[in-house]
Amino acid sequence: MEAKYPLLMRILHWVIGLMIISLLAVGFFMADIPDDAPNKYDLYPLHKAFGFIVLILVLGRILVRVISKVPALPQSLAAWEVKLSHIVHILLYIAMITMTWSGYLMSSFFPHSQGLDLFGIVTMPDLVEKSEEWSGFFHEIHGYCAWFFVALLVFHIAGVIKHRFFDAKESDVLKRMM
Ligand code: HEM
Ligand code: HEM
Repeated sequence: MEAKYPLLMRILHWVIGLMIISLLAVGFFMADIPDDAPNKYDLYPLHKAFGFIVLILVLGRILVRVISKVPALPQSLAAWEVKLSHIVHILLYIAMITMTWSGYLMSSFFPHSQGLDLFGIVTMPDLVEKSEEWSGFFHEIHGYCAWFFVALLVFHIAGVIKHRFFDAKESDVLKRMM
């Protein structure tokens, strides 16, 4: 049988991936709405709630990653390709952590927000004392990290496309994640 990632890792990869791509799109869209527009803050609560769910899923994913057996990459890949893919995967994990925690911290420090409302069901507490400066700092991190994430994703997806369509048949890694 061909090597595949464990089922739980595959599910987490695609669920988190889909949520993050949507959060990136919604995030850029809502941040671009002028401050005085009446619909400026319509999407913020949803962005924060789904972002928080991703925060929890990412913590679970890291745990699952640590205790799972990940299949070895195909032998047909060049040494530099193996190294590059490992670097990109590590950076993707770092970006997932930075993106989610900078969001939660930005919101926690923000003087006008009171907790993080999860669809009216529960409210997650603010983690820190209010501070305009620190909220601004994590806002900057959130914004820069978003672009870093987009660049990483371009690399990540380009790698998958290269191995599937331009390399030997054995090098196709997409099947490992399907
Ligand atoms: C992986 C998860 C997340 C992704 C991919 C994401 C993505 C983004 C993006 C692309 C922006 C626009 C940045 C800009 O152009 O300035 C943004 C803004 C924002 N995000 Fe997130 N976000 C995530 C998680 C969170 C979380 C967990 C929170 C809070 C609990 C949050 C709160 C915010 C807020 C308040 C803004 C608006 C900032 C502004 O008004 O400029 N985000 N997010
Ligand atoms: C925000 C979106 C995404 C994130 C954060 C992400 C993250 C990751 C990470 C961290 C890995 C390494 C496996 C692990 O340790 O979990 C991985 C593997 C993989 N990803 Fe993604 N991914 C995303 C989107 C995509 C998309 C859109 C595709 C399809 C083109 C894709 C295809 C793959 C494949 C095929 C692998 C397996 C590579 C291997 O065999 O080692 N990913 N992804």
